[in-house]
Amino acid sequence: MSKKIVALIVILLIVVVGVVATLLLQGNSNNENQSEENRNLIAETEDTQNNETINNVNTESNETETDTDTETDTQNGKALIVYFSQSGNTQTVANFIHEAVGGDIVRLETVKTYSSNYNDLLDEAQEEQRNNARPELKTKIDNIEEYDTIFLGYPNWWGDMPMPLYTFLEEYDLSGKTIAPFVTSGGSGFSNTIRTIREYEPNANVVEGLSISGSSAGSSQDEVEEWTSSLGF
Ligand SMILES: Cc1cc2nc3c(=O)[nH]c(=O)nc-3n(C[C@H](O)[C@H](O)[C@H](O)COP(=O)(O)O)c2cc1C
Repeated sequence: MSKKIVALIVILLIVVVGVVATLLLQGNSNNENQSEENRNLIAETEDTQNNETINNVNTESNETETDTDTETDTQNGKALIVYFSQSGNTQTVANFIHEAVGGDIVRLETVKTYSSNYNDLLDEAQEEQRNNARPELKTKIDNIEEYDTIFLGYPNWWGDMPMPLYTFLEEYDLSGKTIAPFVTSGGSGFSNTIRTIREYEPNANVVEGLSISGSSAGSSQDEVEEWTSSLGF
């Protein structure tokens, strides 16, 4: 073999080795990019799951916690959704509000347990009204001063708020805050409850409320969103 041919073969070998090496390196960096993307995805998923956990914890334990919701930074400041619900209708609306405005959500629970029998509950609620009762709240909100807007929700009970709402309004001073009331009912709507809230919280700005029929709570999401955006959220 002539020296020229040997040299040519050596050059060819060097080129081939170079090309193979370049391809291998590219493959590696692609894999690294891929696993970086996967990590980000998992992190995002974990983030979402963590946020959901916080929201669940809020509902379950009745403690309010600040989550990382940026939607709360509207002109109306930070929102807290406080609601009482016996059979779940008001809770459904409360959750739609939470989805729309962010912030924190807390269910008002009493130390006593209301009857799960509808007729007994009717009697119990009527009796409490007659006695102007103030059922003790199990739920405590330690950081209410952090919130600018309080969405306050309850079912209509005998043309009024359930008595635990009176306990709440007496326990917490909402001066300087905006109160956005919402109610679910069998048709009575708010009755006189807006006026009552204004009496109990004379230094709060009580804005136009949202009344939803209990039977259509589950399909009220659009109406809820219209209302919250009319309030600037
Ligand atoms: C004790 C009691 C009293 C009620 N009184 C009224 C009433 O006066 N007017 C009305 O329209 N609905 C009345 N309802 C129906 C509730 O307001 C309605 O079912 C509401 O959506 C229940 O909300 P919740 O599922 O969040 O507890 C009453 C229900 C109960 C349990």
